[in-house]
Amino acid sequence: MKRIEIRDLHKTYKQFENQVITVCGWARTVRDSKNIAFIELNDGAFKSVQVVVEREKVSNYDEIVKTLVGSSFKIEGTVIVTPNAQQPFELNAVSVEILGECSADYPLQKKRHTVEFLRSIPTIRPRGNLFNAVFRIRSVSAFAIHKFFNERNFVYVHTPIITANDCEGAGEMFQVTTLDLDRVAKSGKVDYDKDFFGKKVSLTVSGQLHEETLTHAFGKTYTFGPTFRAENSNTSRHAAEFWMMEPEMCFCDINELMDNEEEMIKYVISYVMQECKDELEFLNKFVDQGLLERLNNIVSNDFVRLDYTEAINILEKVKERFQFPVKWGIDLQSEHERYITEEVYKKPVFLKNYPKDIKAFYMRQNDDGKTVAAVDLLVPGIGELIGGSQREERLDKLTTRMAELGLNEADYSWYLDTRRFGTNVHSGYGLGFERLVMYLTGVSNIRDVEIFPRTVGSIQG
Ligand code: 4AD
Ligand code: MG
Repeated sequence: MKRIEIRDLHKTYKQFENQVITVCGWARTVRDSKNIAFIELNDGAFKSVQVVVEREKVSNYDEIVKTLVGSSFKIEGTVIVTPNAQQPFELNAVSVEILGECSADYPLQKKRHTVEFLRSIPTIRPRGNLFNAVFRIRSVSAFAIHKFFNERNFVYVHTPIITANDCEGAGEMFQVTTLDLDRVAKSGKVDYDKDFFGKKVSLTVSGQLHEETLTHAFGKTYTFGPTFRAENSNTSRHAAEFWMMEPEMCFCDINELMDNEEEMIKYVISYVMQECKDELEFLNKFVDQGLLERLNNIVSNDFVRLDYTEAINILEKVKERFQFPVKWGIDLQSEHERYITEEVYKKPVFLKNYPKDIKAFYMRQNDDGKTVAAVDLLVPGIGELIGGSQREERLDKLTTRMAELGLNEADYSWYLDTRRFGTNVHSGYGLGFERLVMYLTGVSNIRDVEIFPRTVGSIQG
């Protein structure tokens, strides 16, 4: 008999009332009261199914009740609708096949474990409720992103992972080489001519520059893939390997860019709220009690749009409360961002027109000569969720800025083609996908929204 998935069964159980169906899964609990036993069976759906096993109805009762939590089963049972019980239906077993017994050292024995403990068992933690909810939401929100851009004529492009350019200019790249480093150390010099690509290359920090060339063919594009940063930031919001989603639009200025960001965030939140009700309720109960209220608020209110200079004025008024000094020109610290978004506005804030010296070379230079049309989206609890800008579309301004920053124009000649051949006002942004998942789940550490997190000094598997 074909098995029914438990996620579907929770939607359709009424149509199977009093019929025998088949389910497969792992036991979350096995309880024995002599002649009747209860198995909470989970197959990956957030909600499990309760299976009632009566001694007289199955041939292997004693074997079944000896199995331990985590064992896998194939169960045939009659669907009994139980409108007055805690769960709306249960399965009354007619046959229970033990597929794989679980050994006694299975680490998920208790109902609740600390996230730190769970982090130490990355292969097993996805089997608990917390990771079930988080990784379902991760999947559903990725799908929502694709749906959003697909409905708006964007083309999804796959930009290279190995690159010879540092998009953000921060020098925080992982080098990729096939040179024998021991031999290099002995010889005392590196000969990049002999390396795989014949030059120095790294893992990408952002797909933006390559993507822009595609945007100038399709008009609207987005990338969504892994990015890598060798940033020595051991915080709850930084990972060395993370996913970034980067839309880029031609004939689009900074204001239209913010409109797209706001619409996209609201769309993804609404979609997740509709598709992941059980997961969000669980997270709202056990992880972050303000989660649902916050998500509802975001969907129904406008985001704030604030100039960097105004933000500095606000921060200067209360500068004694911060550890880091506040003055025009600084790169905002997380404590500053949090004050603006969590205390002053209590909602998402677009911070725009930053000093040019703290931003990347490709951003549109404003007429004041001091700022660029950069815009970061700051959100309560996370800080920077999105970084983006209107791009410098004027070739001369762009090359002058590159020279000021010591970039070799010849290395970027392929990128400058976009400005040589039909340049136009265009804009784009990069969304830190793990930070979005943190925002959607209330989970406060990036290590708990990646399956095998890679952070400075730490890698497993
Ligand atoms: O602000 P960033 O550095 O922007 C760019 O890379 C642009 N090229 C994007 C673009 O305009 N197409 O990074 C974008 C976002 C940040 O706002 C943050 O959410 C996330 O990527 N991010 C990280 N997330 C996790 N760990 C890290 N180490 C991150 N660094 C950036
Ligand atoms: Mg940024």
